[in-house]
Amino acid sequence: MSEINSLKDKLQALQEKALLAFQEAADLQALQTLRVAYLGKKGELTSVLKGVGKLPPQERPVIGQHVNEVKAVLAAALDTAASALAVKEKEQRIAAERLDMTLSGRSAARGSLHPVQQGLQEMTDIFAHMGFTIAEGPEIEDEFHNFDALNIPQEHPARAMHDTFFFEASDEQQAKLLRTHTSPVQIRTMQDCVASGGTPPLAIVAPGRVYRCDYDVTHSPMFHQVEVFKVDKDVSLAHLKGVLQHFLSAYFEKNIEIRLRPHYFPFTEPSAEVDIGCVFCSGKGCRVCKGSGWVEVLGSGMIHPNVLKAVGIDSEVYSGFAFGLGVERLVMLKHGIPDLRLFFENDVRFLRRMGA
Ligand code: DAH
Repeated sequence: MSEINSLKDKLQALQEKALLAFQEAADLQALQTLRVAYLGKKGELTSVLKGVGKLPPQERPVIGQHVNEVKAVLAAALDTAASALAVKEKEQRIAAERLDMTLSGRSAARGSLHPVQQGLQEMTDIFAHMGFTIAEGPEIEDEFHNFDALNIPQEHPARAMHDTFFFEASDEQQAKLLRTHTSPVQIRTMQDCVASGGTPPLAIVAPGRVYRCDYDVTHSPMFHQVEVFKVDKDVSLAHLKGVLQHFLSAYFEKNIEIRLRPHYFPFTEPSAEVDIGCVFCSGKGCRVCKGSGWVEVLGSGMIHPNVLKAVGIDSEVYSGFAFGLGVERLVMLKHGIPDLRLFFENDVRFLRRMGA
């Protein structure tokens, strides 16, 4: 066989082999490898071209043209195969990414406010709607604000009843303590008012945490109170009773009977404990009210002149009422929660049931 025919056969065989390989390429990457193997600088077509040198000069252009034809065929075949593979790969990717819209979604668990926090917010809102301003004070207090200014001097028996957590302090430092009630916020807000050159009226609601060194079934060392007070000219016990009546009915979402029973608190004169008609038996007598038809809910009174004096407010001109309530106790009464410890154990079954 002549040299030129042998080269032509080689080219023919090469083309067939290449076209077959292109068809069988599994992906674009494999196709790219084949492109290099056949058409690249060191590819098979180039190596065939090397044989051209042995041909007589007049035959060289013939073979050259032939090589170009094969090159064009292969290049076109590569392009066709590449676009077919590109389509196939895209289809595969889309199939893999397919979302089944009929599957039901995974719902995200939703949290809710702790029942005590809910209670605090509900109570504070009611007072805010009546025009009281929200105030807060520090949980770490000093003896002046927690006791002295509230007419509870050193050695006063009421101090012993407060089961106070004290911080360690040297003699020259003022003893610090965890506030045992929210009443010191009365002192702080009245002091701030006077210090900024203001005068009453003052109407404040102060929610917050309080601490007592006391732990049993009905006591927790940390609990919550809401303190409410109003100072103005001519504030009377009737205002106190009106505000209590409105607040308690709004909080329990029904008409609540109240009664004021004489009591003693150092920071109020006169002082009264407030009872409500039992929300469980409507006053008929049950286990919760111990058969009396009444449950005690908070302490109240007319702010003692000594308290006004301690902050520099003229008790001849101004008077005020004040009361402080235990948040956990009211939430328990409203929702029929039997045990204070449920608030602090954080059993999700309880929290879920109470969740808003
Ligand atoms: N501070 C009192 C306590 O924690 C509650 C209290 C009673 C607050 C009478 C008052 C009040 O403002 O007038 O036991």
